Amino acid sequence: MSSPSTGPVPPNRSGSPGGFVRACALGELGEDGLVRAELPAGPAVVVVRTGGHVYALADRCSHQDFRLSAGEVFDGGLECALHGSLFDLSTGAPDGPPATRAVPVHAVLLDGDEVLVQVTPAPGAIDGAVVSTSS
Ligand code: FES
Repeated sequence: MSSPSTGPVPPNRSGSPGGFVRACALGELGEDGLVRAELPAGPAVVVVRTGGHVYALADRCSHQDFRLSAGEVFDGGLECALHGSLFDLSTGAPDGPPATRAVPVHAVLLDGDEVLVQVTPAPGAIDGAVVSTSS
């Protein structure tokens, strides 16, 4: 059974964990999967677990208004199901056309079995939250 390897969630001044909100349970992702999550005060995200890391990207392809959560985890990225652009999970950048713009990426924290996603997208590339496979 996998267990998260990150420490406690740091609180911010308002008492919420640094603008992070619960997106899903780690167990919902399996070892190599994704789920769509509606955030209470922001856009929907697609949470992806692959290669022992968890990532979150805006659930809207930058090419057309299409849910990336309908796609598949492929070759370390997230493939759009409509036209096939493959998005880097750390930067949100597509590998090539038809998408030409990056999708927003969100920082992720693990708190026990809870996957927390920062509501405001990160300004640049982020590292995925690490999932330890040792317990
Ligand atoms: S809608 Fe995603 S690549 Fe076209």
